[in-house]
Amino acid sequence: MLFSAGLRGFAVSCLFSFVAQLATGATFKNPLKETNGSDPFMVYTAGYYHLLTTTWTDIEITRATTLEGLKTATPTVVWTDTTSSRAGNFWAPEVHWIDNTWWIYYTAGTETCCDGQRLHALQGGTDILGTYTYKSQLSSEWGIDGTVLRTTSQNYFVWSRFSPNSLQSLYIAEMSNPYTIGTPYLLSEPTNSWETVGGAVNEGPAALYHGGKTYLTFSASYCWTTSYQLGLLTWNGSGDPLLSSSWTKSGPVFSSANGNLGPGHNGFFTSPDDAEIWNVYHATSVSTGACDGNRYTMAQPVNWNSDGSPNFGSPDALSARLNEPSGE
Ligand SMILES: *[C@@H]1O[C@H](CO)[C@@H](O)[C@H](O)[C@H]1NC(C)=O
Ligand SMILES: *[C@@H]1O[C@H](CO)[C@@H](O)[C@H](O)[C@H]1NC(C)=O
Repeated sequence: MLFSAGLRGFAVSCLFSFVAQLATGATFKNPLKETNGSDPFMVYTAGYYHLLTTTWTDIEITRATTLEGLKTATPTVVWTDTTSSRAGNFWAPEVHWIDNTWWIYYTAGTETCCDGQRLHALQGGTDILGTYTYKSQLSSEWGIDGTVLRTTSQNYFVWSRFSPNSLQSLYIAEMSNPYTIGTPYLLSEPTNSWETVGGAVNEGPAALYHGGKTYLTFSASYCWTTSYQLGLLTWNGSGDPLLSSSWTKSGPVFSSANGNLGPGHNGFFTSPDDAEIWNVYHATSVSTGACDGNRYTMAQPVNWNSDGSPNFGSPDALSARLNEPSGE
């Protein structure tokens, strides 16, 4: 035989390390959370992925060193509340690192859904799984799905509320500190046909930064339809981010495909080596769409077009085996 013992040994050890890589989870399969995977938000920090989702009754964080590991990790409940004005319908929890502190922003209201929904801030410390205390209600009127948008000079809060035209729209305000917002400005109203299927809705905003540009995805159309999907706002970089005229809207940019229906309410997280940006979102296999715990959590990488803009592709089939994020 031409193979020397050494080469054979090398080939065997390559095969062995390939198998070992598979076994240690260098790849994963969606969904990351099979039920109650709604409104996902993810942060990679201190060696762990931290996945926030909602079951309507509390705020939970699931953490693991790999995406595959999130499937079997036990969630930690970081917040419950019996105060009647915010004791029920916990939605869209997000955690953000501002001024050397973890802050959780979430939506909650009375136990009777959903007219009482308001935005709230919890103050944590330097441990993302540490103790959180109630800090403030961010809006006096109906509002949901708050997130933080950062520019080099200012933090902004972006959320969903009703416009004077009674359309569920995106609003933006300056954050004077991590728990106080200024005057709300109307950022985007649902007016295109892809934003109005089953009901006119813009919600679930998520900021994305790439190549020196600032983007906001959002979820459009009614969540109980299979036309729930993502749209994209791009800041022109020079106008005031508070003015809708400083943004251009495009879409839809991410829609039902491969059996994953109504993909939306997404968030973005970076790979352990910061080289990749990933999209975490929910979808359902219920043929008419779903807006309840029948939504599962999915993750896949964001790609980039030649002009630097994001390319979200389409939701990968549940049968697809994906590489874990880079740098694990
Ligand atoms: C950006 O938007 C602002 C506000 O509408 C406008 O004044 C400015 O000319 C725009 N800049 C570019 C480069 O499009
Ligand atoms: C989601 O969680 C709630 C509260 O724990 C539970 O009652 C419900 O059955 C779950 N939904 C699904 C689809 O598993």
